[in-house]
Amino acid sequence: MEFLDRPNVHIKDREYVIGQLEKMVADGAKKLQVVADFDRTLSKYKHNGHVCATCHNVLEEGGLPGEYKEQAYKIRDKYFPIETDPNLTIEEKTPYMVEWWTKAHALLEKYPLSKEMLHSMVAKSTAKLREGCTTFFDNLHASDIPLLVFSAGVGDIIREVIAQNSHMYDNMHVVSNDLNFDENGKMIGFKNAIIHVFNKNEHAVHDSDYFHNLSHRTNLLLMGDSLGDLQMANGAENVEAKLTIGFLNLRVEESLELYKSRYDIVICEDETMDVVNAIVNKILCIG
Ligand code: TMP
Ligand code: MG
Repeated sequence: MEFLDRPNVHIKDREYVIGQLEKMVADGAKKLQVVADFDRTLSKYKHNGHVCATCHNVLEEGGLPGEYKEQAYKIRDKYFPIETDPNLTIEEKTPYMVEWWTKAHALLEKYPLSKEMLHSMVAKSTAKLREGCTTFFDNLHASDIPLLVFSAGVGDIIREVIAQNSHMYDNMHVVSNDLNFDENGKMIGFKNAIIHVFNKNEHAVHDSDYFHNLSHRTNLLLMGDSLGDLQMANGAENVEAKLTIGFLNLRVEESLELYKSRYDIVICEDETMDVVNAIVNKILCIG
């Protein structure tokens, strides 16, 4: 398990991680399910030194009037530092996140977005999947392992980013903020209540059939980049082995101890899926 010894991989309790992994390896593909966040988990934070677009940033980068971008950046610049501040608790941050998503979505709803614009907006955007994401999707698909992509981003953008840069397979299920379009393809708002970074524990998916139908898959791999992502699999039933993998992309020095205390495995400033793929390969006995 030399992939756990990389200098940018941090583990508080190595014995625990190895124990969970050994059980997952022994139980194999049939017992596994995977839950992953999207922005800055499946997608990159940086590419060649430049910050990449989140789902919402894709909408800001082009296609809509410049004044939308200006307003959206103003909002983002106020709230993003709060989202990533290790000195504030989730309880302290949550009202600000509600404010951020509410303002961002209300702003977007003022502008003329249509369904047909999404393809070219994504194609021209700086949103990128992590290196190795396609291998990750391919391996899970080949072994028929369900992947829940649970995101506070925008579902329509996620499906488009994955389809354009990799494959959207039928074992993958996206739960996110989905845009609502009228019969002419004009955006008229969002379909459901806001999903922000810290209410992933409250979403209807936890009470839906999704996790219930997977209750025989008792081993769970969870990946995120925010501490709120740790709640994504709260509805999972009969969990026997669980490993949580946290990507720490920024404010590394000040956040590392906190991330190590919450995530089983913390991967710092790494724009690849290498460690995740090594874990999946081990469980699926690939290579
Ligand atoms: P995630 O749950 O897939 O990580 O998506 C949430 C990210 O979206 C979060 O880290 C902040 C980001 N975001 C923007 O970049 N711009 C916005 O306007 C909003 C509301 C969120
Ligand atoms: Mg994220």
